[in-house]
Amino acid sequence: MMTNRQTDASQRSNPSISPLRYLTGITTTGAPHLGNFVGSIRPSVAASRLADVQSFYFLADYHALIKCDEPARIQRSTLEIAASWLAAGLEPERVTFYRQSDIPEITELTWLLTCVTGKGVLNRAHAYKAAVDKNQAAGNDPDVDISAGLFMYPVLMGADILMFKAHQVPVGRDQIQHIEMARDMAQRFNHLYGEHFVLPEAVTEESVALLPGLDGRKMSKSYDNTIPLFTPREQLRKLIAGILTDSRAPGEAKEVEGSALFQIYQAFASAPEAAALRRAYADGISWGDAKQLLFERIERDVAPMRERYHAMINDPAKIEALLQAGAEKARAVATPFMRELRQAVGLRNLGALSAAAPKSKAAKTAAPAFKQYREKDGKFYFKLLDTNARVLLQSQGFESPKDAALTISILQNEGSAALAALQGKVEAAQGISADELDTALQFFATSP
Ligand code: TRP
Repeated sequence: MMTNRQTDASQRSNPSISPLRYLTGITTTGAPHLGNFVGSIRPSVAASRLADVQSFYFLADYHALIKCDEPARIQRSTLEIAASWLAAGLEPERVTFYRQSDIPEITELTWLLTCVTGKGVLNRAHAYKAAVDKNQAAGNDPDVDISAGLFMYPVLMGADILMFKAHQVPVGRDQIQHIEMARDMAQRFNHLYGEHFVLPEAVTEESVALLPGLDGRKMSKSYDNTIPLFTPREQLRKLIAGILTDSRAPGEAKEVEGSALFQIYQAFASAPEAAALRRAYADGISWGDAKQLLFERIERDVAPMRERYHAMINDPAKIEALLQAGAEKARAVATPFMRELRQAVGLRNLGALSAAAPKSKAAKTAAPAFKQYREKDGKFYFKLLDTNARVLLQSQGFESPKDAALTISILQNEGSAALAALQGKVEAAQGISADELDTALQFFATSP
């Protein structure tokens, strides 16, 4: 089941995007658990197999530094998470699979984004706010033990996403806010410097977005309530036996609502399997039997992966080589894009200013341009940018890309004479004079 705004890659919201770019990362601070598997690893491996999807998967080790100051643990976790992804079926030749810190452009982009992000926006980020609230509840100074890294976390994440122009980012529900922030950064940057970034969208699977842990709260390393994905078989059985249930006796009907055991089962089961357990609950299955069913169901999926996982963990050099190859692929995108962004914000070569210099590259490509894009509301928009990527004209939302394109072609053919008839559909941006618009639109009328 999907929420309406967050869509699944197989039902992409805009079929004209091809290939669709899909991106996700996992922070390397521990061994992956079942929550990581159903919320991130499994859906992203499935998406990587779809035709026409280009995927980017990475080990978020810069993020790990925010919460972990144990170097050996970060290194170990990087190995374990990489091996988990591969064991779950990720094919590194099909996707771009890399380690965040192998792409130094990501930290560079983080700075550019930092400069277009409001401090007030970051104040409202859940993780930071929770830390402040905790301090306040304890009667401490609000900033005790809070690093600037934690505060900047959403910006680093924005750089991860925007660097590769991801359209969709599969995440747990708790991460949706970060994707919204990345969208805002992209929008703000595009507004200031021209259309460089794609606006990303969060993808959550409603049924599994927040897998409960052993105690019924969200499964999370920070609650110490996780079931490690590749824990040995007998350990898995033991952990499942420890899932919190109520005290209803065998024979008594049980509630699926609020049952962590049921929710975890559902994240692995087919619809008929889940329906069968629901009936068994109503019929008074004992908690012991229900736990046995859950154990068997998880083990069925995990056992074959566990074997592949251990083979890989024992060959770290091979994983390192795969990551190096992935970094090369990723940097083939990141390096030229970063060059473009530096140019856009004005971190430029001064030689290009020389009057005697031949036409610079920027001038050669600079011409007024119509940019089409799609917004959160699902509608299709365009704007007209001048040679400095300043917005001259802004459209309203159109129901289809065809309607938007038609309006653009009217403007291109008829120039500013068409503006009166298009009232309500397009509007001059604030502070833009009729003359400026006229000049820009004439470019299209006179260009072949
Ligand atoms: N913050 C994510 C988490 O803790 C990991 C992450 C870092 C990420 N960068 C990302 C996820 C970019 C998606 C996209 O789970």
